[in-house]
Amino acid sequence: MSDVTFETHDAVLEIRLDRPKKKNALTVAMYTAMVEALERAAADASIRAVVFTASGETFTAGNDVIDFMNGLGEGEPPVLRFIRLLARFDKPLVAAVNGPAVGLGTTMLLHCDLVYATESARLVAPFVSLGLVPEAASSLLLPQRVGQAVAAEMLLLGEPMGASRARELGLVNAIVPASELRAHALGKAAALAKQPPHALRLSRSLLRGSSEAVETRMTEEATHFAACLVGAEAREAFTAFLEKRAPDFSKLA
Ligand code: COA
Repeated sequence: MSDVTFETHDAVLEIRLDRPKKKNALTVAMYTAMVEALERAAADASIRAVVFTASGETFTAGNDVIDFMNGLGEGEPPVLRFIRLLARFDKPLVAAVNGPAVGLGTTMLLHCDLVYATESARLVAPFVSLGLVPEAASSLLLPQRVGQAVAAEMLLLGEPMGASRARELGLVNAIVPASELRAHALGKAAALAKQPPHALRLSRSLLRGSSEAVETRMTEEATHFAACLVGAEAREAFTAFLEKRAPDFSKLA
């Protein structure tokens, strides 16, 4: 059984994170399935928009911690393929955030055109707290979106941002009741799918600006991330998470 489900609604592809018992933590298999689906959607003219939704009451707890402890393996890791693909995807991306969005759950939103959230949504980017560095070009895009001060609270302190603040700062388009969230996001995606595709493609590309800076930053982040992932700080953070205790970095230089 897959932990991601895919459903087509006319011209809209819905990608649903569906591993609620583990708070939709993202595994290598889930990234791989999403990459394959996005690649198919990119090549399929009948698909004109993609929506990310999630089962349960958490959007996603971010990367699966056990997968992270097992390392990134050989070649380009599926997580990196996924975020690179999101960054250069040339059809609209919409997200429906139904609760905490941790790590990649938050950084992937920076690559979505429209983000809808419930009151219970919480954006958390605890990379430093996990002994890691930001990913998905969030070290570049988040300060651009919310300013250095707020980006530092989120990325350096790992402070969560509630739905209302995210709405105020423009990371979220609207707060929607949980019972309406999925339909609302699918409706917006359907509206985008009805727009003239060439004009939409050009306009998205203009709104996003140069993709070169994003690609360069992702590569830079990925190099540090891979090194940090096998470091003592990350090991302590992940072990502490699995042992359900607070991490202790006091003995690490
Ligand atoms: N990777 C693997 N398993 C995870 C996970 C992750 N990222 N996040 C949660 N889980 C698992 C827990 O280990 C637990 O498993 P168990 O039932 O076998 O003990 C289960 O999912 C439920 O998680 P729990 O933490 O008990 O739920 P909660 O409702 O108290 O909190 C979150 C939910 C999302 C706030 C919390 O799980 C969390 O912060 N996770 C993020 C972990 C993280 O640091 N991710 C970032 C990676 S970049």
